[in-house]
Amino acid sequence: MSTDYVAVVTGAASGIGRALADALHARGARLLLADIDADALTTTADRLGATAVTADVADPAAMETLAARAQGVSLVCLNAGIVGPSLGAVWDVPPDEWDRVFAVNVNGIVNGLRAFVPRLLAANARAHVLITASLAGLAVFPAGGAYGPSKHAVTAIAQHAAMALADTPVTVSMICPALVATGMSNEGIPPSVVAEDALKAVDDGNFALVPHEWHRAVTAQAERIVSGRAPTPPMPA
Ligand SMILES: NC(=O)c1ccc[n+]([C@@H]2O[C@H](COP(=O)([O-])OP(=O)(O)OC[C@H]3O[C@@H](n4cnc5c(N)ncnc54)[C@H](O)[C@@H]3O)[C@@H](O)[C@H]2O)c1
Repeated sequence: MSTDYVAVVTGAASGIGRALADALHARGARLLLADIDADALTTTADRLGATAVTADVADPAAMETLAARAQGVSLVCLNAGIVGPSLGAVWDVPPDEWDRVFAVNVNGIVNGLRAFVPRLLAANARAHVLITASLAGLAVFPAGGAYGPSKHAVTAIAQHAAMALADTPVTVSMICPALVATGMSNEGIPPSVVAEDALKAVDDGNFALVPHEWHRAVTAQAERIVSGRAPTPPMPA
């Protein structure tokens, strides 16, 4: 990754998005940062000398406006996401909560792709889309409400996008972290570690970043499905 590039990060006011912004700033990127939390976004953007765009990723028009402002962008980090208040079984999640989690986590990624990909293809220059998925989008954990199902949609969307863009200058990666200590989780690894690993994956041309200790659990669940057995909760190695 050269130092002469423009990067966009959604969900940049906190957690993994803020850590991506920090890491990109350290690499010399010019940053366009987006978040729904205007005050927290301003704090981060001012600290990094970045442009702040208050935007709800669930709103297609807001993502169009963001993309239109991102001239010369070569890295788009579609990162914003939410857990939602209800963390029980899927039938315990009220319809409005289910819709909002999918609107942000799934439609947010699709809105980002719809707004940015045609512009990146028209520019016909090397560019990258980095999608923040989750381990919960590859392995099925008990409960968790709408979050896991939404993140499964995100990992599928990332794969669809990577295949569709295979013969273009635009590449796609997805990161699938386990727990990260952010506004979303009190436990986990530091977001700075996730951000550095994510940018390294982009540099190395890797499609997916999945924590090593969870590889076996992901493949074990797939093996149970194809052999017709009922799923069991995944465990790290
Ligand atoms: N923290 C974890 O354990 C973990 C693990 C795997 C994946 N993730 C994913 O990482 C991403 C970032 O989450 P985080 O852990 O940094 O959480 P976080 O809550 O610290 O940060 C999320 C940011 O997204 C913003 N945001 C929320 N809804 C938005 C919307 N509609 N439009 C624009 N911005 C919005 C929030 O204001 C916040 O600044 C999410 O997609 C999340 O699902 C998190």
